[in-house]
Amino acid sequence: MNNLFTKIFRKKYIHHKHPAHLKKCLSAIDLTFLGIGCIIGTGIFVLTGIAAANQSGPAVTLSFIISGFACTFAALSYAELSSSIGGCGSAYGYSYVAFGEFFAWIMGWILLMEYGMSIAAVANGWSGYFNNALVLMDISLPETLSKAPSLGGIVNLPAMLIILIIMSLLIIGAKQSAIFNAVMVFIKLLTITLFIAVAIFNVNPANWYPFMPYGWFSTLPDGKTVGVLAGASIVFFAYVGFDAVSTAAEEAINPQRDLPRGIIGSLAFCTVIYIIVSLLLTGVVPYQELNVSSPVAYALQKIGFQWASAVVSIGVISGLTTVILVLYYALTRIIFAMSRDGLLPHTLSQVNKTTNTPVRVIIFCGLIISLIAGFIPLGTLAEIVNIGTLAAFVIVSLGVIFIKKNHKNNKKTFKNKWHPLIPLLGIFSCSALMCFLPGQTWIRFLIWVLIGIIFYFVYSIRQSHLNKEPA
Ligand code: ALA
Repeated sequence: MNNLFTKIFRKKYIHHKHPAHLKKCLSAIDLTFLGIGCIIGTGIFVLTGIAAANQSGPAVTLSFIISGFACTFAALSYAELSSSIGGCGSAYGYSYVAFGEFFAWIMGWILLMEYGMSIAAVANGWSGYFNNALVLMDISLPETLSKAPSLGGIVNLPAMLIILIIMSLLIIGAKQSAIFNAVMVFIKLLTITLFIAVAIFNVNPANWYPFMPYGWFSTLPDGKTVGVLAGASIVFFAYVGFDAVSTAAEEAINPQRDLPRGIIGSLAFCTVIYIIVSLLLTGVVPYQELNVSSPVAYALQKIGFQWASAVVSIGVISGLTTVILVLYYALTRIIFAMSRDGLLPHTLSQVNKTTNTPVRVIIFCGLIISLIAGFIPLGTLAEIVNIGTLAAFVIVSLGVIFIKKNHKNNKKTFKNKWHPLIPLLGIFSCSALMCFLPGQTWIRFLIWVLIGIIFYFVYSIRQSHLNKEPA
């Protein structure tokens, strides 16, 4: 019993230098672009409209500000841990140092769900916009090939295809992917600039009244939640991804300096964009009309700018491509780290000598996630992402408090000035947002965690490299 206890709570003190390491090639700018590539996507382009119509009204901007605060506290904790601990496993690696192997495993297991589901969810969103674009060109895919079975189709083929295309890109290499990402991010930013430039001259302030039609928070008789806080727990999805920057620690040229810059820089930039876009979107069109699959394009169409609407649609397709790319990149790095520690099969951490990338894990993820994206609808996928991410943020904030207590910090690393206020605020705000999510999401989440616990005791505990080393 004592032995079991020692095993599952055994901590890593220093980040191990492994023989299977990744090539260092990413600068601070690459990392910030990686963050922006990953953050701005389905959240702002699709969920803003849905949350405005169903939960928050024009006060969706407030929802963005509230979840932005929760993310800022978590981001500061991520910045601190990524700078002082490093490693490509992100929250998984930090939990290993702070709480020991068992909690690290649970954290990694949650991250697999968060990233895997969000890649599939964004691929579904991508497929929707892609189909729209095809319709504009008078080509259309039959519904049987563009929808999941539960939505009346057979398979969502475009969603599967985009994942397989990104898979090929990631196999080629991190630097090449970063260049592709930078080009796509540039197009995405141009798209947003175009929307802002057109919308700003077409705002009708009457659309902002009533500003908070559903109040702060209430539950309807059918179990649905409404209000600014319920909206915040949904648009939170728009911020998912800044943590992905921390998974690039081993490929960053100067991780101690550049990771905090990449994480905080990309989050700050995206928050400003979200506030502006959500304010304009609800200013140009009455919020009740925004419950559509492409609200930004719809709003431009509504005020008579057909050309701008078409250009924005194409921009959104490329925008969602970068989100899939970076989330996928992050997922493979987390699996890579878990496998290198022995908690997942060894074959998943082998780096290909020609491309310097973990080819096997990239292919393994691509095949599984493309199946998920092809057969499970967007709503079901998106639900679960937020709860997993929020749980990860709570654990990372807790990690900062534990690690500060137990370890002396190197002078060169990034530190929060107000300790432990920042991590405590992170724990409080992210737990609160979790409480605003529906009960069914909680049940799915807990089932996933339970499967993870069983896997750990059946497989990982025996294979763990840390447990094979002398104490
Ligand atoms: N934040 C990402 C998005 O909004 C996941 O698509």
